[in-house]
Amino acid sequence: MTSLLAKFSFLLFLCYSTICLSSCILSDDLERFASDEEVLGLFQLWQKEYGRGYENLKEEAKRFEIFKENLKYIKETNARRESPFDYTLGLNEFADLSREEFSKIFMPDMGPMPKDNMNLNDDDDSCPNAPVSIDWRKKGAVTKVKNQGYCGSCWAFAATGAIEGINAIVTGRQSVSLSEQELVDCVEHSHGCNGGLYHYAFDYVTNNSGIAKEADYLYTAENDTCKASEIKKKAVTLNGYKMVTYSSETSLYCAVSRQPVSVSLNGKDFQFYRKGIYDGKNCTGDYKPTHAVLIVGYDTVAGNDYWIVKNSWGESWGMKGYMFIKRNFTGDVLGVCSINCCGAYPIKEAVKPEYYYSI
Ligand SMILES: *[C@@H]1O[C@H](CO)[C@@H](O)[C@H](O)[C@H]1NC(C)=O
Ligand SMILES: *[C@@H]1O[C@H](CO)[C@@H](O)[C@H](O)[C@H]1NC(C)=O
Ligand SMILES: *[C@@H]1O[C@H](CO)[C@@H](O)[C@H](O)[C@H]1NC(C)=O
Ligand SMILES: *[C@@H]1O[C@H](CO)[C@@H](O)[C@H](O)[C@H]1NC(C)=O
Repeated sequence: MTSLLAKFSFLLFLCYSTICLSSCILSDDLERFASDEEVLGLFQLWQKEYGRGYENLKEEAKRFEIFKENLKYIKETNARRESPFDYTLGLNEFADLSREEFSKIFMPDMGPMPKDNMNLNDDDDSCPNAPVSIDWRKKGAVTKVKNQGYCGSCWAFAATGAIEGINAIVTGRQSVSLSEQELVDCVEHSHGCNGGLYHYAFDYVTNNSGIAKEADYLYTAENDTCKASEIKKKAVTLNGYKMVTYSSETSLYCAVSRQPVSVSLNGKDFQFYRKGIYDGKNCTGDYKPTHAVLIVGYDTVAGNDYWIVKNSWGESWGMKGYMFIKRNFTGDVLGVCSINCCGAYPIKEAVKPEYYYSI
């Protein structure tokens, strides 16, 4: 970019682009960024949009190469769409991370999934009266989208989401945001920011007389020592949890018809998800769960059935933090990215009023 002409055209490009800064970067119209120069301009706009700065030119050059690779993958994937409901990818805050870096941070080893356990297995594998669509967000049972930051604590967010859900449903009150940090710091058998399982989180809340409110035990996105004993009042208690029948989509469907459900899946390809129904073409055959999310409902559009999934990567990811994942998928009993594998949900019994009246 030493020639005057190049400088001039770059400036023109900048002027044109700043008019629609975020909308251009995030829009699906990435095709027009083709030449190295245009992609460099896009990279600079992207840095500005996400407040990204690099230590030195060497690092910036390295990040630019990764950004270019990612842009190529995004464009190729978007070009393969066949219907307006198919998913698209886009540039988001993860656009300068290689797939390997992304996996290392956000896809920690979750540890072996708990084995089938007769006491915990879901017995409801048929629910003919379940509604054909449900969205727990519309019923006040889902808190706003949160951000786990650069900490492999997805399992804790999947757990609080499910507890927030059942608590709102059972008490009939608006959902209350609960503390992921308490789970990160206090749940044994899990590894804080290095991954864990929501099953252990449900166990912890059940065994330790509840979980604190978000506001009483703030999220730091770091491993810390357990401060649960300093919390005077726990916000929500549980009576246990159940596991969705292994690889049964009907069992998962029935569970979601009753409450939001924590699931684990292979999320390595979610890095650039932007909108539409994710069909998992890029994760077939890779069954290892690497990520945990919350299913908050299901629906159908033009014959395409999908799950409504709440992620914990902030509101700038996906559709304001949400994702649709294809369901009723006949290609694989484990479902898209093995979402049918290992779901679980907490149990909370309503407090029986007669306890109070019979004194
Ligand atoms: C966080 O704590 C877990 C143990 O609870 C440990 O395995 C892990 O290495 C720690 N991670 C960091 C980043 O300190
Ligand atoms: C909770 O209690 C149950 C039943 O006593 C036990 O099996 C489980 O290991 C406990 N879990 C935790 C996290 O303490
Ligand atoms: C998806 O596609 C990319 C690029 O083609 C590939 O590197 C990756 O291994 C694939 N699978 C997953 C699970 O991301
Ligand atoms: C799955 O798809 C079939 C065929 O389109 C449809 O009849 C059925 O109702 C769907 N099942 C669910 C649980 O949505």
